Amino acid sequence: MLRAIFLLAISLTVVSTKVGTEVVSSTQKSAEKPKIFEAIKTPVCYNYFQISLQWAPSVCATRRCHEPFLEPDRWTINGLLPTSSPPYPNTCYDRNLGCRANFTELAEVSPKLVDDMWYYWPSLYNKATPEFWKYIYCKYGTCYPESGTDYFKKAISMAKKVNELLKDVTDRGPGAFKQMNKALGVNVGYWCRNVRGGAQIIEQIGVCYDRDWNMMDCPHAKMCAITAEYTDYCSA
Ligand SMILES: *[C@@H]1O[C@H](CO)[C@@H](O)[C@H](O)[C@H]1NC(C)=O
Repeated sequence: MLRAIFLLAISLTVVSTKVGTEVVSSTQKSAEKPKIFEAIKTPVCYNYFQISLQWAPSVCATRRCHEPFLEPDRWTINGLLPTSSPPYPNTCYDRNLGCRANFTELAEVSPKLVDDMWYYWPSLYNKATPEFWKYIYCKYGTCYPESGTDYFKKAISMAKKVNELLKDVTDRGPGAFKQMNKALGVNVGYWCRNVRGGAQIIEQIGVCYDRDWNMMDCPHAKMCAITAEYTDYCSA
């Protein structure tokens, strides 16, 4: 068993080292047009992927959102996270060289992708949306084994799929856990927030995938009291 874990650790390291060397060095760019995404990646190990999705009305019940009445008709993306047991890998780039992402340029080459990102990946509060994308890309996308464009494409396709599977979940109370797990066929991770009166609302879910992109039970399971609800209304 120990030996198997050790071998796994070695193979993960090899994969991540390869990731590190695949990235174009920014020192080569001199005369070239800058790339849409630029970050010198540092090697990282992870066991599985997790897409974290948020329910805007719940998030906006306790925060000042940009668009308080965003239709409660979809789970929007927070981020796609290459994940290991805590601590989760993040900020996988050389901090001295920084991290660059230009979504104006991405929209020029992949307009459909960026349209989908506005729909499925809006910033709900604080940052403006492209700034939020850049923040998430630099924090988690640089830990992803493929390019920045592939990172966003992958997350969008996962969000579409999860929304499709969850569209018939009608229970907004404690039964939601069971319905969502059943609809997806795996155990989902949940994040809740305490609201007035000692209640909890579901703000975020995490759907986990193995390294071959098959959905799997999220190892961290629930982080909510069983009485949690999610809301259809923005109280603000
Ligand atoms: C992003 O790219 C556009 C188009 O190439 C350019 O005009 C703009 O200055 C760039 N923004 C940043 C912050 O580099």
